[in-house]
Amino acid sequence: MSRRLEQQAAPAGTGVSHVFPIGSRLNERGWLEIGGCDVSEVAAEFGTPAYVYAVDDIRTRARAYVDGFRKRTDHFEVVYASKAFPCTAAYRLLAEEGIACDVASGGELYLALRGGFAPEKIYFHGNNKSQAEIAYAQEAGVGHVVIDSFHEIGLIEAPQKVMLRVTPGIKPTTHDYIATGQVDSKFGFGLDDVPRAIGAVGRRGLELVGLHAHLGSQIFDLGPYEKLAEVLTQMGDYPLLNLGGGLGIAYTNDEHPPPIDEYVETLVNGAPDGVTVLCEPGRSLVGNAGVTIYTVGTVKEIPDVRTYVAVDGGMSDNLRPMLYGARYEAEIANRFGGGTVCTIAGKHCESGDVLQRDVELNDPKPGDLLVMPATGAYGHAMANNYNGIPRPPVIFCEDGDARAVVRRESYEDLALRDVL
Ligand code: LLP
Repeated sequence: MSRRLEQQAAPAGTGVSHVFPIGSRLNERGWLEIGGCDVSEVAAEFGTPAYVYAVDDIRTRARAYVDGFRKRTDHFEVVYASKAFPCTAAYRLLAEEGIACDVASGGELYLALRGGFAPEKIYFHGNNKSQAEIAYAQEAGVGHVVIDSFHEIGLIEAPQKVMLRVTPGIKPTTHDYIATGQVDSKFGFGLDDVPRAIGAVGRRGLELVGLHAHLGSQIFDLGPYEKLAEVLTQMGDYPLLNLGGGLGIAYTNDEHPPPIDEYVETLVNGAPDGVTVLCEPGRSLVGNAGVTIYTVGTVKEIPDVRTYVAVDGGMSDNLRPMLYGARYEAEIANRFGGGTVCTIAGKHCESGDVLQRDVELNDPKPGDLLVMPATGAYGHAMANNYNGIPRPPVIFCEDGDARAVVRRESYEDLALRDVL
């Protein structure tokens, strides 16, 4: 399956790299096609900016996870870390694939239930869950609450299946903001506190079924996962072992993360026989499935300094470049290739609102459609309304059919919560 994924992700001769959704191609007219839909037609129908997803890409990756486990063990659960892309349609799609779901707040829980996840397939996370959120989760009947602190133990009513989130003291190689496994973390119980937490959970009458740890996100080196399974199994024998998510994806053409199958193999090999292994992929399920399409507006050339190509979105639809210095590819949607070194700027009133510095585009001009791949995870999820910019729609493309699953925000929406 992993080889098939690689091949599908980089079809020969189309000029579309593996950072684009599986099945993407340049069509006979020279335009990028996602999920069988010409992006110029998607832009004409739904406007820009827009998040455009290939539905089959998400399905293929979800199946790669499930198949990767199934061929190695009968005891596993793939859990969609829905913070990566929390919209009702995405929940619905992944519920259809039969996997479980992780939510990190009452709001994500609401959307997961609305999207059709059975409550017993939901894992409720969060380092500071409120009493109200916990009550909501228990009333809804969530399968597992993943306990993060001593304070939280006192907020949960028995009976309830719970897991303990452990901070294993392992720091993966990734951006500091998205590393969570190290000792200095706001998440979970340090190893020394685990025995005391186990005692407190027992006294509260809660049913402790396993341990959980999440090392961090956008991880390419699988070594720390082997270590993680070892550390957690030393803490006691439990039926469930949740090794978190975090498998990295390719944002740029030169990045080649380990295939899903290799990641799954590492997780399964690390766990003791008979234990149910859980993993919680977010980014690696949805990240490469989505691209953002923008329209180019102002092109400002400062001789001997820089050429700014401004698009009709920016830090309100993709915070990742500003937050993490994240890098992306970019192309003019009907003229792939380089030639002009430019800096892609957003339209917000802030100099730091730059989506990409020093990327090559093919002669960008006002009115061109610019596409930025690998924006499917944590783009829509972290979108905001800075400068009163309405958030983009989410478009699902499948077999040549494009449909809005989240509409574009309107100016009226911006005032919807006003109390005058
Ligand atoms: N499980 C837990 C408990 C998590 O905290 C996370 C991510 C995941 C699973 C999923 O990790 P993934 O497979 O997506 O790497 N906003 C940041 C990412 C923050 C990740 C937070 N937790 C970004 O845009 O890179």
